[in-house]
Amino acid sequence: MPLQHEHEFLVTGSHDEMNRQHYVSRLRMHILNQIGGGMRDVYESRVKPKFEKDNGRIPAGEREIHKAMMADHYGRTWSTMMVNCQDMVWDSVRPSLERAQPDLNERIRGLNAQYGSVSLNPYLKIPKYLAASDIHRMPGNYHTERAEDDASQGALYDRGRFVYNGGAAGPLADGLPRTLAAYIKSRWPDFKPKKILELGCTIGSSTVPMVDAFPEAEVHGIDASAPVLRYAHARAEALEKPVHFHQMDAEDMDFEDESFDLIYSCIIFHETSRKAYPNILEECHRALKPGGMMAHMELTPVANMSDFDAFYIDWDAYYNNEPFYQTYTSMDPEEWVTKAGFKNERFWQVSIPDLDRSPKESFNDAVRNPTVANTKIARVGESARWYTYGAWK
Ligand SMILES: C[S@@+](CC[C@H](N)C(=O)[O-])C[C@H]1O[C@@H](n2cnc3c(N)ncnc32)[C@H](O)[C@@H]1O
Repeated sequence: MPLQHEHEFLVTGSHDEMNRQHYVSRLRMHILNQIGGGMRDVYESRVKPKFEKDNGRIPAGEREIHKAMMADHYGRTWSTMMVNCQDMVWDSVRPSLERAQPDLNERIRGLNAQYGSVSLNPYLKIPKYLAASDIHRMPGNYHTERAEDDASQGALYDRGRFVYNGGAAGPLADGLPRTLAAYIKSRWPDFKPKKILELGCTIGSSTVPMVDAFPEAEVHGIDASAPVLRYAHARAEALEKPVHFHQMDAEDMDFEDESFDLIYSCIIFHETSRKAYPNILEECHRALKPGGMMAHMELTPVANMSDFDAFYIDWDAYYNNEPFYQTYTSMDPEEWVTKAGFKNERFWQVSIPDLDRSPKESFNDAVRNPTVANTKIARVGESARWYTYGAWK
């Protein structure tokens, strides 16, 4: 696992604890890439032919593939290892965090902010779909507070996610938003947003890069969960980046109409709900200035991938507490964006090659010739492309 950037609020652990984190991280990559890499072969050479023999047809869609693969010992073993390793990720981080928690909270409480701000709303109701389950099996999810002014869920997410993806998004875990910012700047060089908002910013690792990309802009991030926001603010201060964090529900934001030039998100919609998704898009439309743009990096719609890839990526819906995954990927973004008030002709979509993990030429290609063709599932270790869509108001 590469080294994570050690800002002053990052909780890593003792020598032994970090060794364990490295081990878990590498084990997960092995299960995901090497063992997971065999899943397609198993499907093509064994599972599909058996299904065809038994049913006189090939599996119709990812749900039938899921059932058939989980009836096979290879698929079941891979899936069991994935579940266990997911829990090992959090378990490898928690002991050091539990030890560090009182001091971490104390330091964050006493922070003398010099760059940005955080405003919390203790009356905000955590959306039901967030409170209902521990997304990614992360104990306590984003919102749980175990002490007064608790920020520890933010620290758990920061270190745990790095262990989870083996540092694939870079030392600051910001590969996605850097890719998005670089894409926006390359494709629309005349677009100079002055006020930017990120929805579902969690610990701000996807917010901070906008400060570097658009240094003239005022950058804001909202999230429904207080612990991650406290941590986001401390982290941004430690990185000396001016970001303004707010505890708000993206379905019903406190910002005035036409407040922002750019509203974006990185992988939040698949963790919302069927009801919340259209409301959030409508809020984007309301809070954008005329001529402003929204941009969302998200899971690729199943319509753009093969049934096998849809099955493979939907694993999280079944076993990783991502209940809205399948519903979300079955929805057509263009339909919902236009229902939210954006004009059809102002809609755009593209699959963007990851800035760090793709040849520069393929990134430039996506700028010149935006397409969602050739979208491959963006699992860690593969040459990732990020499905992104948006619209101009
Ligand atoms: C997968 S995380 C986003 C990750 C983050 N953008 C990043 O790239 O690191 C989803 C976040 O969205 C937040 N969230 C979900 N629904 C929300 C809502 N209705 N309003 C505000 N935040 C929401 C959750 O609290 C969580 O922090």
